[in-house]
Amino acid sequence: MSSQLPNPITSPAWWQLLNWIAEPIGFQEKYSQKYGDIFTMHLSGIGSPVVIGNPQVIGAIFSQDAHFDIGRANKLAEPLVGRNSLMLLDGARHRRERKLLMPPFHGERLQTYALAICQITEQVASQWQVNQPFIARTAMQQVSLEVILQIVFGLSQGERYQRLKPLLTEWLDMTDSPLRSSMLFLRFLQQDWGAWTPWSQMKQRQRQVHALLQAEIEERRNSPDSGRTDILSLMMAVRDENGQAMSDDQLRDELLSILFAGHETTATTLAWAFYQIHQQPDVREKLLEELDSLGENSPPMKIAELPYLTAVCQETLRMYPVIPVLFPRITKSPMKLGGYHFDAETILMPSIYLVHNREDLYPDARVFKPERFLERQYSPNEYLPFGGGSRRCLGYALAQLEMKLVLATILSQYQLALAEDKPVKLQRRGFTLAPTGGVRMVMTGKRQKAAIAYL
Ligand code: HEM
Repeated sequence: MSSQLPNPITSPAWWQLLNWIAEPIGFQEKYSQKYGDIFTMHLSGIGSPVVIGNPQVIGAIFSQDAHFDIGRANKLAEPLVGRNSLMLLDGARHRRERKLLMPPFHGERLQTYALAICQITEQVASQWQVNQPFIARTAMQQVSLEVILQIVFGLSQGERYQRLKPLLTEWLDMTDSPLRSSMLFLRFLQQDWGAWTPWSQMKQRQRQVHALLQAEIEERRNSPDSGRTDILSLMMAVRDENGQAMSDDQLRDELLSILFAGHETTATTLAWAFYQIHQQPDVREKLLEELDSLGENSPPMKIAELPYLTAVCQETLRMYPVIPVLFPRITKSPMKLGGYHFDAETILMPSIYLVHNREDLYPDARVFKPERFLERQYSPNEYLPFGGGSRRCLGYALAQLEMKLVLATILSQYQLALAEDKPVKLQRRGFTLAPTGGVRMVMTGKRQKAAIAYL
């Protein structure tokens, strides 16, 4: 006999799907108020995922990752990232590919990217004019795209770079609203019905991007340069335990996975950080005091150790999760978790949003309070902006470093203000959640205090 899924939502499955696409946060709030921290959705054409906001159950999931298929559950992302993407792999192949991709994103290698991040930020910020509004999210997207192109793809100039940059931005912007995002969830919209349909346009951009990346890979293969330190070159050089190199399709799909996973997420979180820092003058004051106390000629890695700056980034990631739920986990066999019995093939969805808004863990959860991270340590199942277990975000260290260096570079040199005083809400953007309107800001002047010199 099959087990009953916990707290099933009873409205029609097509209605739940539309609500989930349009308002994933409102949806979770509504049903967590009704059912508590575990309930089951029914989404037409997708299945019946169990949403989990209970830290103990999530901890049990993280510690038993081998009992779940996760790549298979990420199928919705295949049209964007390709079937060889790390995100879509399971088992031994996932472990092997992760092991290959891990080193360039961690440890000492990170330090080599720090200077590039600061320089890219300065270059983007130098285009701002006094009293002319700009959209923080767009500016941050310019920074994070450039960071990925330089340190991951190894591209910073040349014709291919000039063509790839606008093409990638256009491609990503094709799902910039809840309506346009729906084509990622509704399979009947994923048809090539002619050049005018959004899906065909998306596919056309994808083909152009693929062709440019293929040309880049071939060029590097034909004329290898051992001096290159970008992540594509490192991926091309690695061999697995059988001496096998990554194929062109694998290289391309991993590049696009890193682009999709790493670029919008970091840009969006930075836009929220600017929003909160400029809504609360005392937060900005404390940050500037801490940055100014560093003095000149501070190496970037010293900036990354600043406690208040770190707490501001942690609190931003708590309050504004970029994805509404973690990757779904499909049970491979029947299992018991937190007093619930789940059959094989049950889809479990740990919710970052529900955990990060628990009043028992985060009192006044709707208030931006970086201090909470200076006063208390949270365990990996209480604070999970980068997920956990065997799927923990590959780029978590790079993302945090980038956030801190971008904030430090801009705040220490520019005076900014919010251009509008109405509250900014979350809205769906593809698979992510972003600020509606992108946070309009204005540069009001340069700071008198000498900028930190990065070297
Ligand atoms: C603020 C920025 C970021 C946030 C909030 C974030 C968050 C996440 C989350 C929640 C997951 C799923 C983890 C799970 O289900 O347990 C994930 C996976 C992943 N992230 Fe990030 N991420 C960020 C930046 C980045 C960056 C900069 C990169 C790469 C440069 C990256 C690459 C990846 C990859 C490749 C995966 C899939 C890992 C796997 O399947 O094994 N992310 N990220």
